[in-house]
Amino acid sequence: MTLTETLNQAWALLTPEAGDRGPIISLASLDHTGQPQLRTVVLRSAQRSIGQVAIYTDLRSAKVVEFQADARAAVLLWSAEHQVQLRLTGDISILSGEPTQLIWQVLRKDQRLAYGHQPAPGTVIERSDAWEDHPDPANLAVLSLSINSLEHVSLDPAGHRRALFRRVDDWAGQWLSP
Ligand SMILES: Cc1cc2nc3c(=O)[nH]c(=O)nc-3n(C[C@H](O)[C@H](O)[C@H](O)COP(=O)(O)O)c2cc1C
Repeated sequence: MTLTETLNQAWALLTPEAGDRGPIISLASLDHTGQPQLRTVVLRSAQRSIGQVAIYTDLRSAKVVEFQADARAAVLLWSAEHQVQLRLTGDISILSGEPTQLIWQVLRKDQRLAYGHQPAPGTVIERSDAWEDHPDPANLAVLSLSINSLEHVSLDPAGHRRALFRRVDDWAGQWLSP
C-alpha cells in the first residue's frame, strides 16, 4: 500500500455510510484539572477536503464544557475488519442554536431523544430511572474536529505499517517504524 492508498483507506473508515450509523470512535478531551477524559461517540460526518470530522452531542454535556475551555481533542478508531487503528488529533469547534437547526430537521424522532434528557446529562439522580426525555433542538451541539494529525497503524500479516499524515505537510504523509 502506498501513502496515498493508506490515507484513502483512513478516510473511507472515517466516512459514515449513507443511511447507516456512522463509525464508533473514542473521543478524548482534557477536563479542568488536566485529567484526560474518554467517551464513545458516533462519527456523523467527514469532510476530507477540509480535514474535518463531526459528532453530535448534548450541549449540556461535560465534554462541551471541556472543549469550550480547551479545544484540543484526540480520536481513536479501531477497525477489527481491516485490522487498522486510526489516531487523530486536532481542535474542536462547537456549533449550536440556529446553525444546527437544519441538522435537527433531518434527525429521526428516536435520534432526537438523545438531546433531551431531563435533568441534564451527568446530573446526580435518586434512582436510575429518575429522568425523562424532552427532546429540544436547543440541546443539539455539533462538535467539529479540525484534524491536525492522522496516524494510521495497520496490523497487516504481510508486514505491519505505520504512517503519519499532518495538515502542516498538506497530508503528504511519512512512514514510521511500527
Ligand atoms: C455506542 C455508543 C455510542 C455513543 N454515541 C454518542 C454520541 O454520538 N454522542 C454523544 O454525545 N454521546 C454518545 N454516547 C454516550 C457517551 O459515550 C457519553 O456517555 C456521553 O456523551 C456523556 O459524555 P461526557 O459526560 O463526557 O460529556 C455513546 C455511547 C455509546 C456506548
